[in-house]
Amino acid sequence: HLQSGMARPKVVVTRNLGAEAMRLLDRSDLDVVAWHSETQPCDKKWLYDNIPGATGILLLFSEKVDQEFLDAAGPTLKVVSTMSVGYEHIDVKALAQRGIKLGYTPDVLTEAVADITVMLALMAGRNVKETTTIVQNGQWSAYPWAPYLFCGSQLSANWLQPTRTAGFLGFGRIAQSTLARLLPFGFTRALYTGNPSSQPKPARDAEMHAKYASQGLAEFRRVDIAELARESDVVFVLAPGEPSTYHVVNEEFLRAMKKTAVLVNTSRGSLVDSEALAKACREGWISGAGVDVVEGEPHVPADHPLVKEPRCVVLPHIGSATNETRLGMGTMAINNVIAGVLGGNMPAELNM
Ligand code: DGY
Repeated sequence: HLQSGMARPKVVVTRNLGAEAMRLLDRSDLDVVAWHSETQPCDKKWLYDNIPGATGILLLFSEKVDQEFLDAAGPTLKVVSTMSVGYEHIDVKALAQRGIKLGYTPDVLTEAVADITVMLALMAGRNVKETTTIVQNGQWSAYPWAPYLFCGSQLSANWLQPTRTAGFLGFGRIAQSTLARLLPFGFTRALYTGNPSSQPKPARDAEMHAKYASQGLAEFRRVDIAELARESDVVFVLAPGEPSTYHVVNEEFLRAMKKTAVLVNTSRGSLVDSEALAKACREGWISGAGVDVVEGEPHVPADHPLVKEPRCVVLPHIGSATNETRLGMGTMAINNVIAGVLGGNMPAELNM
């Protein structure tokens, strides 16, 4: 472990990120200790045996970084790199207090998550779960084509609804890319609600409006949460999972939505009260829902209220799961940890 008389900094990697990405860590100036499995999380004993004395740690969003973790790593730790854009699993304050840098993976996954966000809006509106289940079960013959059978809500503008309104709970990078995709569907209004404590951004809003005016966006505004629920044809939940956003989508919100509207959550499960959403789908307060994240995941059994609900499409947190994007995230997370450990510029360091 010695190079030119100096101890090489230790980097602990809690998951095998695949040969192509891991090759980047194959360097003589680092002492890399990596968990062997791509699919199974590292066990706690392995982690706590290995993190003492680490200078850098690369981990996933399913792993918690708290005081206990940081104490175990000890004072050598200079950088934590997470292979995720979200960082709710990390005690950012504690990192800042200890002067530890945090690397994350913004931008690289934006388009993949925006894709799946629109896909869920279409799937939820068009009854894809209920109808594919019928086909899978060999029951299609029991449902001959009928004029109003399996009808759902149309995403694109139509003769009955010439204007369509997208409502964004949170308007960051993924929401902006989602809006860009919705314009060709004839969405003419976009409303969003930000964290109530955040400052309005009139200049950014004017810029967004101007940018898309030629593509038909007639209105772009920050609204309060009640107006967002009331006015939107599709509500996109795209805010970080933190105490201030816990269950923002609750019974009151869902009851205020249009009966024809759809709710999509591709951010964090904690923003949505699952029981309330299941009830909203079951009792027809809304047309349907599509969620890529569920509170308590991955412990979401077959009898979970949302899984049982025919009007709710549930995906197992695959928003960024394309080969291209995951390789990009892995590469970025590795480059973050290498730069953080060796004192270079991290490709994406969180401004704490
Ligand atoms: C993230 O990056 O935060 C995701 O939820 C995983 O893609």
